[in-house]
Amino acid sequence: MTAEYKVHGDVAVITMSNPPVNGLGLSTRVGITDGLSKALADAAVKAIVLTGAGKAFSGGADIKEFGSPKALQDPNLLSVILALEASTKPIVAAVHSICMGGGLELALGCHYRVAAPGTSVALPEVKLGLIPGAGGTQRLPRVLGVEAALNLIVSGQPVKSELLAKAPGQKLFDKLAASPESLMDEALAFAREVAAKHGQGGGDLPLVRNLPCRHPQGDAYFQFARNMVGGMSKNFPAPLKCVEAVQAATQLKFDLGLAKEREIFLALMVTPESAALRHLFMAERAASKIPDVPEDTPVRAIKTVGVIGAGTMGGGISMNFLNAGIPVTILEMKQEAVDRGVATIRKNYEAQVKKGKLKQDKYEERMALLKTTLSYDDLKDCDLIIEAVFEELGVKEKVFKQLDAVAKQGAILASNTSTLDVDKIAAFTQRPQDVVGMHFFSPANVMKLLEVVRGKATAKDVLATVMQLAKKIKKTAVVSGVCDGFIGNRMIEQYSRQAGFLLDEGATPQQVDKAIEKFGFAMGPFRMGDLAGNDIGWAIRKRRAVEQPDMKYSRTADKLCELGRFGQKTGAGWYDYQAGKRDAIPSELVDKMIEEHRKELGITPRKISDEEIVQRLVFSLVNEGAHILEDGIASKAGDIDMVYLTGYGFPMHRGGPMHYASQVGLYNVAEAMKRFARNPHDDAKFWEPAPLIQKLVAEGKSFS
Ligand SMILES: NC(=O)c1ccc[n+]([C@@H]2O[C@H](COP(=O)([O-])OP(=O)(O)OC[C@H]3O[C@@H](n4cnc5c(N)ncnc54)[C@H](O)[C@@H]3O)[C@@H](O)[C@H]2O)c1
Repeated sequence: MTAEYKVHGDVAVITMSNPPVNGLGLSTRVGITDGLSKALADAAVKAIVLTGAGKAFSGGADIKEFGSPKALQDPNLLSVILALEASTKPIVAAVHSICMGGGLELALGCHYRVAAPGTSVALPEVKLGLIPGAGGTQRLPRVLGVEAALNLIVSGQPVKSELLAKAPGQKLFDKLAASPESLMDEALAFAREVAAKHGQGGGDLPLVRNLPCRHPQGDAYFQFARNMVGGMSKNFPAPLKCVEAVQAATQLKFDLGLAKEREIFLALMVTPESAALRHLFMAERAASKIPDVPEDTPVRAIKTVGVIGAGTMGGGISMNFLNAGIPVTILEMKQEAVDRGVATIRKNYEAQVKKGKLKQDKYEERMALLKTTLSYDDLKDCDLIIEAVFEELGVKEKVFKQLDAVAKQGAILASNTSTLDVDKIAAFTQRPQDVVGMHFFSPANVMKLLEVVRGKATAKDVLATVMQLAKKIKKTAVVSGVCDGFIGNRMIEQYSRQAGFLLDEGATPQQVDKAIEKFGFAMGPFRMGDLAGNDIGWAIRKRRAVEQPDMKYSRTADKLCELGRFGQKTGAGWYDYQAGKRDAIPSELVDKMIEEHRKELGITPRKISDEEIVQRLVFSLVNEGAHILEDGIASKAGDIDMVYLTGYGFPMHRGGPMHYASQVGLYNVAEAMKRFARNPHDDAKFWEPAPLIQKLVAEGKSFS
C-alpha cells in the first residue's frame, strides 16, 4: 500500500507515499480509503489531514497505470473522492509542492484545504487530449469562479498557490501556510479548530459540490470562450470540450454536471488526438532511457564547452549552452569568421530582447560567458567539444586529430555531422570511446531535437552524460546508431524521393504541398526545400550517385538546381518569390520544366488524389522507419516518432509516423505499400513492406 496512516493525538494523518509524485495508482487509492475507514472507526480521532510525502501532494494519475485496467479498478478516483465527501469527520487537505490533475481533484473533494506557498496547482489533462475526469471541471469553477477555472483547465498550465490564494472571493484554499516547513503544524492546528467547531453544532461539513456556479454573462461569455479556444486549438478537440464541461457546471445540477464530464472524458479517451498526445508523453520519457545504459550510470561533469566552427550551426549550438549558463569557447580559422559568427549570436539575442523575451542583463550575462579563439590550445580545458565545420570527411579528420592532441583526458569529442560516418570520425582519434555524434537541427538554438549518434566504440558514460546534458539545454534527445542520415534524414530521403515521383506522374509542387499540409505538416516538401535550400539535397544526391548508383530518383530536383533555383535565398525555387517576401507563388517555368521532364520519361500525366499523396509520403517514412528498427539504428518506434515530431514538423495530433501507422492498422499500411509497388513509375523494391511490418501484420500487432 502506498499511503501511510498515523494518529497525532486526535487527528489522523493519511500520507500518500508513491514516489516520485504520489501518483494515484490503485495501491495509493486503496491506502487512502483504508486510512479513512480507520480514522472513522477510531472514536479518538476527531479530524483527518490528507497529505503527500516527499516532493508532492500528488501529481495525479499514476503514469505507470496508463492504459492498464488497474486505472479503472475500484476504488477509482471518483469513488475515493465520494468517500472523502461522505466522511462525518472533517478532512483537511494539506497541499504542497505539486498539486495537479487527480491530485487537485482529490483536494477539492476534501472539506478544507490548507496550502503551502510555492505549490504548483494545475489541471493538465488537456495536454493529453482529455478533460479532467474526476470532477475537476465541476468543482474548480465553484471555488475559483468560472473564468479563472476555465483558464486553468483549458491551458493546463500551473499557477502558484500564493497567487490563487489572493484571488478575490476564492474558496480553493481556506488558509495559506506561512511556509512549506510549517504546513503540517498549521494543517493539524486548522483540523483541530474545525473539528471543535463542527463538534459544537457548527453545521454540516462544507462540500465544494454545494457551492453555486454561475457566470453573470452566461451564454455570451461561453460563446466568446468557444471562439477564442476554437481558434487556438486547431486539430485538437479537448480544449473546446473543456469549455463545454465548464458550461455544464453552470447549467446543470452537480451530479448531472459530473455525469456530463464523465461522458466527455470517456469520449475523448478514444479519440486519435488523445491517443497521439498520450503516446508522445510516454515516448518522450522513454526516449531518454537507453536499453543497455543503466539509469545510474555515472556521468562526466560538463562545466565548459568548446565549439569548432562559428557558421550556421556553430553559433546556434553555442547559444544553447550560453542560455544554460555554461561557458563556451568558439574556435574558428580566421578572425573574420569569428566576428561574423559572434555578430549573428548578438543579433539573435538582440531580437529576443526587442521582443521582450529576454532581459538586457540576462543577454549581457550570456554574452559574458562566450569566448573566442583561433588556437586549439584554448580548448585544452573544455569538458565537451562539439565540431560544426564543413561537411567534408577530410576537414573533420584534421579537426579531430588536432582535438585528440590537445583535449584533456576524459573530454567528450562530439561531431554535428548530418551524414558522415561517426565511426570513421572516431577512428581519427586515439580515444574513440570519447567520440559521439551530437546532431542538432537548424536553427540549433530553436529546434528541440538532438540526435545523439552512438558510435560502435562510444562509452556508456559518454552517452549518459550527453543525454543528461540535453535535458539541461532543453532538447529532446534521441539515440541513433550510425548509418547514412541517421534516423531523421535517412527517412526524409524516402519522403523526398516520393515527392519527386509524384511530380513525374502528374502532381504539381503546390498540390503535393497542400495535401500534406492539410494532413497537418507545417510545410510541404517543396516549400520546405525552398526554405532550407535545394542545393543541400543536390549535393547529397551527387555523393549518393557514386555510393548508391542504383537508387532511383526523379531528376526534377536536379534540373531545378541546374537552373540556379536554390529556393528563397536565390529568390526562386519550386516557387517564385517576390523580393523581401516569403509567400510561395506557383511558377509557370517550373510547371513547364516538370511537363518536359514527363515527356522525356514518356509518362502521360494522371490525376493523383490527395489521399494517395499523403499515403505515399507518410508510408515511405513508415517503411524506412521499420528498416531502421530492424537495423537497430533506433531502439524503439517511439524514438522515431519523437524525431519526427520534434525535428521534422510531423503533425502532433497524429503522434508521429510509426504511431500513425499503428492507428491506421499495419495491415492497411502494408496493403497500400503493395499497391504502390505495382506503379511502374515508382520504386517497387522500396515498397516491399519491411520484414518487421510483415511480421507484425502476421501476428496482428502494431508498432506499440
Ligand atoms: N546547416 C544545417 O542545416 C545543418 C544541420 C545539421 C547539421 N549540420 C552540419 O553541421 C556542420 C556545419 O554546418 P553549417 O551549416 O554550420 O556550415 P557553415 O558553412 O555555415 O559553417 C561552417 C563553419 O566552419 C568553419 N570551419 C571550417 N573548417 C574549419 C576548421 N578546420 N577549423 C575551424 N573552423 C572551420 C567555417 O569557417 C564556417 O564558419 C556540418 O557538418 C553540417 O553537415 C548542418
